[in-house]
Amino acid sequence: MSNTHKPLVFSGMQPTNTLHLGNYLGALKNWVKLQDQMPCIYCVVDMHAITAVAYGKPDELRTAVREVAAAYIAAGVDPKKSVLFQQSAVPAHAELAWIFNCVARLGWADRMTQFKEKAGKHKERASVGLYTYPMLMAADILVYKATHVPVGEDQKQHLELTRDVAQKFNNDYNVEDFFPLTEPVIMGAGTRVMSLRDGAKKMSKSDDSDMSRINLTDDADMVAQKIRKARTDPNPLPENEKGLEGRPEAENLINIYSALSDIPRAEIIARFAGQQFSGFKNELADIAVAKIAPIATRMRELLADPAELDRILKDGALRAAAIADPIVAEAKKIVGFSH
Ligand code: TRP
Repeated sequence: MSNTHKPLVFSGMQPTNTLHLGNYLGALKNWVKLQDQMPCIYCVVDMHAITAVAYGKPDELRTAVREVAAAYIAAGVDPKKSVLFQQSAVPAHAELAWIFNCVARLGWADRMTQFKEKAGKHKERASVGLYTYPMLMAADILVYKATHVPVGEDQKQHLELTRDVAQKFNNDYNVEDFFPLTEPVIMGAGTRVMSLRDGAKKMSKSDDSDMSRINLTDDADMVAQKIRKARTDPNPLPENEKGLEGRPEAENLINIYSALSDIPRAEIIARFAGQQFSGFKNELADIAVAKIAPIATRMRELLADPAELDRILKDGALRAAAIADPIVAEAKKIVGFSH
């Protein structure tokens, strides 16, 4: 099938809790870069948030939406250049999601590993929204006919479903190439940031220990302290990349150094080969503070003026709707909803 669609990036994050270094290196940093390559749409997916954690917590949800929007901007998403908005403000997402609920098959949804993980043992107690989450995600993307979606490894399966939905819709309604077959942009190695306390676990907002993660709201002292106290094994830095095998904590710190400085891992290892971690950590702390502290400062400034943030989001929603509305109108016509 020919793919004649104009390049367009779409991505989103859920407004749940504060963001951390893993969100920055794994996603935001790359979103910022993509802005120079093609038009980008970045969304705060609040409708996804109420499928689970944010359900029943309207005040927390409102706060989190602003925090995540502020984090996008503080990290370098330019709301003049890119479209930055809140999902629930553009009804076209929900309209297309309904159509996709009818395109996708039960078997497809049943295979989603994220649902199984999030629903846990008591699947019958999960919300129906959590189950249909992937179809809403497909709608987020395809309502703009987005061609590229930067996501982490954990979202690859949802992207495959998005392609399946596009293909089945195009096929069943005989509208070849109406929806694009969207490509995942899986971020490079080193963007999977692990816990600072346990190299086998992902850095996560739900970890009980705050020392396990660097929050984008941490001040300079806190960032430095967390890096200096990060767990390592008792050995010095290895002589080469192979020497990182079986040393997840060492590997994680080197990955973080590499991602923050844009210096390749091999070069970093060559420089610190055989040295103790203390000196390396001091340097890493300086680099992390230089990158993260200004983001925290900018976030605080933005959050101090919620009316301005709301204005930015509203402007983004208007621009998003201007793209999405004609596409959803056409999709409705294709389905046979004629108005
Ligand atoms: N499911 C994504 C996550 O948890 C968030 C998301 C929702 C998303 N809609 C999207 C990501 C569309 C990319 C494109 O990370």
